[in-house]
Amino acid sequence: MSAAADGPLIDIIAGARPNFMKIAPIIRAIEARQRAGSALRWRLVHTGQHYDARMSADFFDQLGIPEPHVNLEVGSGTQAEQTAAIMVRYEQLLLNDRSALCLVVGDVTSTMACAIVAQKLAIAVAHVEAGIRSGDWSMPEEINRMVTDAITNWFFTTSEVANDNLRRSGVGEERIFFVGNTMIDTLLAHMPRFAPPAFWAEQGLRAGQYFVMTMHRPANVDTAQSLSAVLKAIGEGARGMPVVFPVHPRTAKTLAAVADLPKNLLFVDPQPYLEFNYLVKHAMAVITDSGGVTEETTAMGVPCITMRNSTERPETVTVGTNELIGTDPARLKPTLDALFDGRWKKGAIPPLWDGKTGTRIVECLERLLVKQPSTA
Ligand code: UD1
Repeated sequence: MSAAADGPLIDIIAGARPNFMKIAPIIRAIEARQRAGSALRWRLVHTGQHYDARMSADFFDQLGIPEPHVNLEVGSGTQAEQTAAIMVRYEQLLLNDRSALCLVVGDVTSTMACAIVAQKLAIAVAHVEAGIRSGDWSMPEEINRMVTDAITNWFFTTSEVANDNLRRSGVGEERIFFVGNTMIDTLLAHMPRFAPPAFWAEQGLRAGQYFVMTMHRPANVDTAQSLSAVLKAIGEGARGMPVVFPVHPRTAKTLAAVADLPKNLLFVDPQPYLEFNYLVKHAMAVITDSGGVTEETTAMGVPCITMRNSTERPETVTVGTNELIGTDPARLKPTLDALFDGRWKKGAIPPLWDGKTGTRIVECLERLLVKQPSTA
C-alpha cells in the first residue's frame, strides 16, 4: 500500500469505466513519489458500479492498474439504489479504517456517493475533473458534478472554463488547481500500444474508411424508437462505409427490440481500452453521446460528432474537433455531408493536455497533506 506506515492515506475511488483511465496516472505518480521517499499512502476503492470484465477488469489489466484494495461490490440498480449502497458500504469502510483524503474523479454515481460519505465524516475531498458543467439537469452526471463540487475541498481542473465555473460559484482561488487532464495522460502513455481488434482484419477495415459510434445516454437509447431512428440516420449518412458500434450493456437491452438494423453497422462488444482507441485513432470520424470520447478525439485530431444538446467540455468544440448537433437524427445527414466534403475543422490541443497531469496532482497532494520539514 505504501512506503511510510504512518503517512497520510489517500482513498482513490473508482466505480465505472470512465474512471479507470483517470485514476491510472494518479496511482502511477504516487508510486513514483513513494520510490523517491514520499510518505503518501494510497488505497484503491472500487465501488463495483461497473462489474463486467469488459466494463472493468479489462481496463485494469491493460492500464496496469493494481488490484483494488477494497471492492464494495454494489452492482447495478436505480440511481438511488446505487448511491445508497455505495454510501452505506463506503461509510462502513471509513468507520473501520479512516483515510486522510477521499480522492474522486469524474462525474459518475460513485464519485458523488463517496464524496458525500467522506465529507460527512470530516474527511477532506479532492475532486479530479472538477468544475465542468453542462447545465443539463436531466443527466445524472450533472447532478453528480454539482453535488460533488459543493462539498469538495480541493478542485483539480482540466480547463479555464472549469476554473471560471468554480470561481463564479464562490470557490476561492487557493482551492483551485488547474492541472490538465488525467484521461489524456493515459491516452498519450498508451498510444504506442494501441492495437487493432481481432475483427479489424476479418471485416477488412481500412484506416480512414469507417466510422466509430458509441451511444448509451438514456435520451438516445432508452426506447427502441429513438435508438432505431439514430441507427437508421447513421447507417444512411455513412454512405455505405462500415460503422463500428461497441455496444454498452444499457444499449444492448434496447437494441434487442430494434428491427431492420442497417447493414453497414457492425455491432461489437464493449472494447478494451487499447482496441477502442486504435479504432478511434484510425476512424474517419466518431459519432457519440459520451463526454470522455470527445476529449480523446480532440487529443487525437479525429473529427467527432456529438449527439447531445449540451456539453460540459466546451473546449472540445471551441478548440478541438468536436461538433454538438443535438439529439435529432435529422441533423446527422448534413453534418456527415460536410465531413465527406472535407469541411471539418482541424482542431488544436487544449492547454495542459500534455501527459503530466497525474504528476502535477500528486505534487499538490504532497504539499497539502504531508507536513513539510521546517525551513527555519
Ligand atoms: C455510467 C455513468 C456514465 C458513463 C458510463 C460509461 C453514472 C450516473 N453514469 O453510466 O457517466 O458514461 O457509466 O460506461 O454513473 N451494466 C452491466 N454491466 C456492467 C455495468 C452496467 O450490465 O458492468 C448494465 C446494468 O444493467 C446497468 C446499466 O448497464 O443497470 C447501466 O449501468 P450504470 O452503472 O447504472 O450506468 P451507465 O449507463 O453505465
